[in-house]
Amino acid sequence: MKFDEIGNWSEVKLDIVREYAAAYSRILSAQESPSLYHVYIDAFAGAGMHISKSTGDFIPGSPLNALLIKPPFKEYHLIDFDSEKVDLLLEMAAEYQNVFVHEGDCNGILLEKVFPKAKYSDYRRALCLLDPYGLHLNWEVMLTAAEMKSIEIFLNFPIMDMNMNVLKKDPGKVDPLQALRMTAFWGDESWRQAAYDVTGNLFGMPEKTNNEAMAEAFRQRLRKVAGFKYVPEPIPMRNNKGATVYYLFFASQKPVAADIVRAIFDKYRDKGKK
Ligand SMILES: C[S@@+](CC[C@H](N)C(=O)[O-])C[C@H]1O[C@@H](n2cnc3c(N)ncnc32)[C@H](O)[C@@H]1O
Repeated sequence: MKFDEIGNWSEVKLDIVREYAAAYSRILSAQESPSLYHVYIDAFAGAGMHISKSTGDFIPGSPLNALLIKPPFKEYHLIDFDSEKVDLLLEMAAEYQNVFVHEGDCNGILLEKVFPKAKYSDYRRALCLLDPYGLHLNWEVMLTAAEMKSIEIFLNFPIMDMNMNVLKKDPGKVDPLQALRMTAFWGDESWRQAAYDVTGNLFGMPEKTNNEAMAEAFRQRLRKVAGFKYVPEPIPMRNNKGATVYYLFFASQKPVAADIVRAIFDKYRDKGKK
Protein backbone atom coordinates (compact mmCIF):
# COMPACT_ATOMS: atom_id res chain seq x y z
CA MET A 1 0.00 0.00 0.00
CA LYS A 2 1.32 3.42 -0.96
CA PHE A 3 0.62 5.95 1.76
CA ASP A 4 -0.68 9.41 0.85
CA GLU A 5 1.93 12.16 0.87
CA ILE A 6 0.49 15.15 2.64
CA GLY A 7 1.36 18.83 2.49
CA ASN A 8 1.98 21.25 5.30
CA TRP A 9 -1.67 22.36 5.34
CA SER A 10 -2.79 18.81 6.12
CA GLU A 11 -0.33 18.60 8.99
CA VAL A 12 -1.80 21.82 10.39
CA LYS A 13 -5.31 20.34 10.09
CA LEU A 14 -4.18 17.20 11.93
CA ASP A 15 -2.72 19.30 14.75
CA ILE A 16 -5.88 21.41 15.07
CA VAL A 17 -8.24 18.44 15.15
CA ARG A 18 -6.03 16.54 17.58
CA GLU A 19 -5.79 19.49 19.93
CA TYR A 20 -9.54 20.05 20.00
CA ALA A 21 -10.37 16.33 20.23
CA ALA A 22 -8.14 16.09 23.32
CA ALA A 23 -9.93 19.02 24.98
CA TYR A 24 -13.32 17.60 23.97
CA SER A 25 -12.58 14.16 25.39
CA ARG A 26 -11.22 15.66 28.62
CA ILE A 27 -14.34 17.80 29.12
CA LEU A 28 -16.85 15.09 28.18
CA SER A 29 -15.10 12.46 30.33
CA ALA A 30 -15.28 14.75 33.36
CA GLN A 31 -18.99 15.48 32.92
CA GLU A 32 -21.19 14.04 35.69
CA SER A 33 -24.94 13.99 36.37
CA PRO A 34 -25.64 13.09 33.73
CA SER A 35 -22.48 11.39 32.59
CA LEU A 36 -22.10 11.36 28.84
CA TYR A 37 -20.91 8.72 26.37
CA HIS A 38 -18.74 10.42 23.78
CA VAL A 39 -18.01 9.07 20.34
CA TYR A 40 -15.34 9.94 17.76
CA ILE A 41 -16.36 9.69 14.11
CA ASP A 42 -13.90 9.91 11.21
CA ALA A 43 -15.93 9.82 8.00
CA PHE A 44 -13.15 10.10 5.39
CA ALA A 45 -10.66 8.39 7.64
CA GLY A 46 -7.77 7.57 5.26
CA ALA A 47 -5.20 4.89 6.08
CA GLY A 48 -4.40 6.13 9.59
CA MET A 49 -0.86 6.99 8.53
CA HIS A 50 0.63 9.38 5.97
CA ILE A 51 4.01 10.51 4.72
CA SER A 52 4.95 14.14 5.26
CA LYS A 53 5.88 15.85 1.98
CA SER A 54 8.24 18.20 3.78
CA THR A 55 10.22 15.67 5.86
CA GLY A 56 9.48 12.27 4.25
CA ASP A 57 8.62 10.94 7.73
CA PHE A 58 5.58 8.87 8.62
CA ILE A 59 2.97 10.87 10.48
CA PRO A 60 -0.17 9.63 12.18
CA GLY A 61 -3.43 10.42 10.39
CA SER A 62 -6.58 11.65 12.06
CA PRO A 63 -7.90 8.21 13.19
CA LEU A 64 -4.63 7.26 14.87
CA ASN A 65 -4.38 10.67 16.54
CA ALA A 66 -7.87 10.13 17.94
CA LEU A 67 -7.06 6.66 19.23
CA LEU A 68 -4.06 8.01 21.14
CA ILE A 69 -6.03 10.69 22.99
CA LYS A 70 -6.20 10.37 26.78
CA PRO A 71 -8.71 10.11 28.36
CA PRO A 72 -10.05 8.10 25.42
CA PHE A 73 -13.38 8.44 23.66
CA LYS A 74 -15.87 5.74 24.62
CA GLU A 75 -16.32 4.58 21.02
CA TYR A 76 -14.76 5.23 17.61
CA HIS A 77 -16.20 4.90 14.10
CA LEU A 78 -13.79 5.05 11.16
CA ILE A 79 -15.09 5.05 7.59
CA ASP A 80 -13.35 4.89 4.22
CA PHE A 81 -14.39 3.51 0.86
CA ASP A 82 -10.92 2.42 -0.21
CA SER A 83 -10.48 -1.24 0.76
CA GLU A 84 -6.68 -1.03 1.14
CA LYS A 85 -7.07 1.84 3.57
CA VAL A 86 -9.79 -0.04 5.39
CA ASP A 87 -7.43 -3.04 5.80
CA LEU A 88 -4.91 -0.77 7.50
CA LEU A 89 -7.60 0.75 9.69
CA LEU A 90 -8.71 -2.76 10.69
CA GLU A 91 -5.14 -3.66 11.64
CA MET A 92 -4.89 -0.51 13.72
CA ALA A 93 -8.24 -1.21 15.38
CA ALA A 94 -7.59 -4.89 16.11
CA GLU A 95 -6.46 -4.39 19.69
CA TYR A 96 -9.49 -2.24 20.62
CA GLN A 97 -13.00 -3.50 21.46
CA ASN A 98 -14.57 -0.08 20.93
CA VAL A 99 -13.25 0.82 17.47
CA PHE A 100 -15.57 0.10 14.54
CA VAL A 101 -14.29 0.28 10.97
CA HIS A 102 -16.79 0.68 8.11
CA GLU A 103 -16.03 0.21 4.42
CA GLY A 104 -18.12 2.16 1.92
CA ASP A 105 -19.54 5.57 1.10
CA CYS A 106 -19.67 7.52 4.33
CA ASN A 107 -22.68 9.53 3.19
CA GLY A 108 -24.93 6.50 3.61
CA ILE A 109 -23.03 4.86 6.47
CA LEU A 110 -23.14 7.98 8.65
CA LEU A 111 -26.88 8.46 8.30
CA GLU A 112 -27.86 4.80 8.57
CA LYS A 113 -25.37 3.29 10.99
CA VAL A 114 -23.17 5.77 12.80
CA PHE A 115 -25.16 8.90 13.67
CA PRO A 116 -27.86 6.75 15.36
CA LYS A 117 -25.11 5.80 17.86
CA ALA A 118 -24.87 9.42 18.94
CA LYS A 119 -28.40 10.34 19.95
CA TYR A 120 -28.85 13.25 22.31
CA SER A 121 -31.63 11.43 24.18
CA ASP A 122 -29.27 8.49 24.87
CA TYR A 123 -26.85 10.90 26.63
CA ARG A 124 -24.44 10.43 23.77
CA ARG A 125 -22.36 13.11 22.10
CA ALA A 126 -20.01 12.96 19.11
CA LEU A 127 -17.15 14.77 17.45
CA CYS A 128 -17.22 14.06 13.72
CA LEU A 129 -14.43 14.84 11.25
CA LEU A 130 -15.67 15.30 7.67
CA ASP A 131 -12.50 15.50 5.64
CA PRO A 132 -13.04 14.69 1.95
CA TYR A 133 -10.47 15.49 -0.76
CA GLY A 134 -13.17 17.32 -2.72
CA LEU A 135 -16.91 17.60 -3.23
CA HIS A 136 -17.73 14.11 -1.98
CA LEU A 137 -19.90 14.96 0.98
CA ASN A 138 -23.67 15.41 0.93
CA TRP A 139 -25.45 18.27 2.64
CA GLU A 140 -27.82 15.81 4.40
CA VAL A 141 -24.91 14.66 6.53
CA MET A 142 -24.14 18.17 7.79
CA LEU A 143 -27.84 18.94 8.20
CA THR A 144 -28.48 15.75 10.19
CA ALA A 145 -25.49 16.42 12.45
CA ALA A 146 -26.92 19.85 13.22
CA GLU A 147 -30.47 18.61 13.73
CA MET A 148 -29.37 15.89 16.16
CA LYS A 149 -27.89 18.62 18.45
CA SER A 150 -25.45 16.04 19.83
CA ILE A 151 -22.82 16.17 17.08
CA GLU A 152 -20.04 18.69 16.48
CA ILE A 153 -18.24 18.70 13.16
CA PHE A 154 -14.93 19.68 11.67
CA LEU A 155 -15.48 20.13 7.97
CA ASN A 156 -13.15 20.40 5.01
CA PHE A 157 -14.80 22.93 2.66
CA PRO A 158 -13.13 22.03 -0.64
CA ILE A 159 -12.83 25.42 -2.31
CA MET A 160 -10.08 24.29 -4.71
CA ASP A 161 -12.24 21.52 -6.16
CA MET A 162 -15.08 24.05 -6.48
CA ASN A 163 -12.85 26.60 -8.25
CA MET A 164 -11.15 24.11 -10.55
CA ASN A 165 -14.13 22.03 -11.56
CA VAL A 166 -17.37 23.88 -10.96
CA LEU A 167 -17.13 27.66 -10.72
CA LYS A 168 -16.15 28.76 -14.21
CA LYS A 169 -15.77 32.51 -14.79
CA ASP A 170 -18.85 32.43 -16.99
CA PRO A 171 -21.71 30.75 -15.09
CA GLY A 172 -23.18 29.69 -18.44
CA LYS A 173 -20.16 27.40 -18.90
CA VAL A 174 -20.63 25.39 -15.67
CA ASP A 175 -20.68 21.69 -16.53
CA PRO A 176 -24.08 20.26 -15.48
CA LEU A 177 -22.50 17.19 -13.86
CA GLN A 178 -20.14 19.36 -11.83
CA ALA A 179 -23.10 21.55 -10.86
CA LEU A 180 -24.83 18.45 -9.48
CA ARG A 181 -21.80 17.65 -7.30
CA MET A 182 -21.85 21.22 -6.02
CA THR A 183 -25.58 21.10 -5.28
CA ALA A 184 -25.18 17.78 -3.42
CA PHE A 185 -22.58 19.40 -1.16
CA TRP A 186 -24.29 22.78 -0.79
CA GLY A 187 -27.78 21.37 -0.31
CA ASP A 188 -29.55 23.42 -2.95
CA GLU A 189 -28.82 25.69 -5.90
CA SER A 190 -28.21 28.82 -3.83
CA TRP A 191 -24.46 28.35 -4.39
CA ARG A 192 -25.06 30.09 -7.71
CA GLN A 193 -26.00 33.33 -5.94
CA ALA A 194 -23.03 33.00 -3.61
CA ALA A 195 -20.62 32.33 -6.48
CA TYR A 196 -21.76 35.00 -8.95
CA ASP A 197 -22.46 38.65 -8.27
CA VAL A 198 -24.73 40.60 -10.59
CA THR A 199 -25.09 43.76 -8.53
CA GLY A 200 -21.92 45.76 -9.07
CA ASN A 201 -21.78 45.38 -12.79
CA LEU A 202 -23.05 48.03 -15.19
CA PHE A 203 -24.16 45.53 -17.82
CA GLY A 204 -25.69 43.04 -15.38
CA MET A 205 -23.10 40.43 -16.36
CA PRO A 206 -22.48 37.94 -13.53
CA GLU A 207 -19.03 38.20 -11.95
CA LYS A 208 -17.40 35.39 -10.00
CA THR A 209 -17.08 36.22 -6.30
CA ASN A 210 -14.02 35.27 -4.26
CA ASN A 211 -13.12 32.43 -1.86
CA GLU A 212 -13.94 34.47 1.23
CA ALA A 213 -17.44 35.20 -0.08
CA MET A 214 -18.07 31.50 -0.75
CA ALA A 215 -16.80 30.48 2.69
CA GLU A 216 -18.89 33.15 4.40
CA ALA A 217 -22.03 32.14 2.48
CA PHE A 218 -21.51 28.54 3.56
CA ARG A 219 -20.88 29.60 7.15
CA GLN A 220 -24.25 31.33 7.14
CA ARG A 221 -25.88 28.18 5.72
CA LEU A 222 -24.41 26.04 8.46
CA ARG A 223 -25.90 28.47 10.99
CA LYS A 224 -29.19 29.50 9.48
CA VAL A 225 -30.21 26.54 7.33
CA ALA A 226 -28.58 23.58 9.10
CA GLY A 227 -29.03 25.07 12.57
CA PHE A 228 -25.58 24.92 14.16
CA LYS A 229 -25.63 27.69 16.75
CA TYR A 230 -21.89 28.39 16.62
CA VAL A 231 -19.77 28.36 13.50
CA PRO A 232 -16.51 30.27 14.04
CA GLU A 233 -14.82 31.90 11.08
CA PRO A 234 -13.07 29.02 9.29
CA ILE A 235 -9.32 28.79 8.82
CA PRO A 236 -7.97 28.83 5.24
CA MET A 237 -5.49 26.06 4.49
CA ARG A 238 -3.02 27.28 1.91
CA ASN A 239 -0.50 25.41 -0.20
CA ASN A 240 3.13 26.43 -0.71
CA LYS A 241 2.08 28.78 -3.50
CA GLY A 242 -0.32 30.61 -1.17
CA ALA A 243 -3.49 29.27 -2.84
CA THR A 244 -6.30 28.20 -0.52
CA VAL A 245 -6.84 24.45 -0.89
CA TYR A 246 -9.75 24.30 1.53
CA TYR A 247 -11.26 25.99 4.56
CA LEU A 248 -11.44 24.08 7.81
CA PHE A 249 -14.81 24.75 9.45
CA PHE A 250 -16.02 23.87 12.90
CA ALA A 251 -19.69 23.82 13.86
CA SER A 252 -21.30 23.14 17.21
CA GLN A 253 -24.28 23.89 19.45
CA LYS A 254 -22.03 24.93 22.34
CA PRO A 255 -20.48 28.37 22.87
CA VAL A 256 -17.61 26.94 24.90
CA ALA A 257 -16.71 24.55 22.07
CA ALA A 258 -16.61 27.44 19.61
CA ASP A 259 -14.45 29.48 22.00
CA ILE A 260 -11.92 26.67 22.31
CA VAL A 261 -11.77 26.18 18.54
CA ARG A 262 -11.45 29.92 17.88
CA ALA A 263 -8.40 30.00 20.16
CA ILE A 264 -6.90 26.97 18.39
CA PHE A 265 -7.62 28.43 14.94
CA ASP A 266 -5.95 31.70 15.97
CA LYS A 267 -2.88 29.83 17.13
CA TYR A 268 -2.55 28.02 13.80
CA ARG A 269 -3.80 30.73 11.44
CA ASP A 270 -0.34 31.84 10.34
CA LYS A 271 0.96 28.31 10.01
CA GLY A 272 -1.93 27.56 7.63
CA LYS A 273 -0.59 30.32 5.38
CA LYS A 274 2.84 28.84 4.78
C1 LIG B 1 -8.26 13.67 2.81
S1 LIG B 1 -8.28 11.92 3.00
C2 LIG B 1 -8.55 11.72 4.71
C3 LIG B 1 -7.40 12.07 5.60
C4 LIG B 1 -7.65 11.84 7.05
N1 LIG B 1 -8.86 12.52 7.53
C5 LIG B 1 -6.48 12.36 7.86
O1 LIG B 1 -6.44 13.56 8.14
O2 LIG B 1 -5.62 11.57 8.23
C6 LIG B 1 -9.81 11.47 2.31
C7 LIG B 1 -10.16 9.98 2.38
O3 LIG B 1 -11.54 9.85 2.06
C8 LIG B 1 -11.76 8.63 1.35
N2 LIG B 1 -13.05 8.83 0.66
C9 LIG B 1 -13.33 9.60 -0.42
N3 LIG B 1 -14.65 9.59 -0.68
C10 LIG B 1 -15.24 8.82 0.27
C11 LIG B 1 -16.58 8.47 0.57
N4 LIG B 1 -17.59 8.90 -0.18
N5 LIG B 1 -16.81 7.69 1.66
C12 LIG B 1 -15.80 7.27 2.43
N6 LIG B 1 -14.50 7.57 2.20
C13 LIG B 1 -14.22 8.34 1.14
C14 LIG B 1 -10.53 8.46 0.50
O4 LIG B 1 -10.31 7.08 0.22
C15 LIG B 1 -9.43 9.07 1.41
O5 LIG B 1 -8.82 8.04 2.17
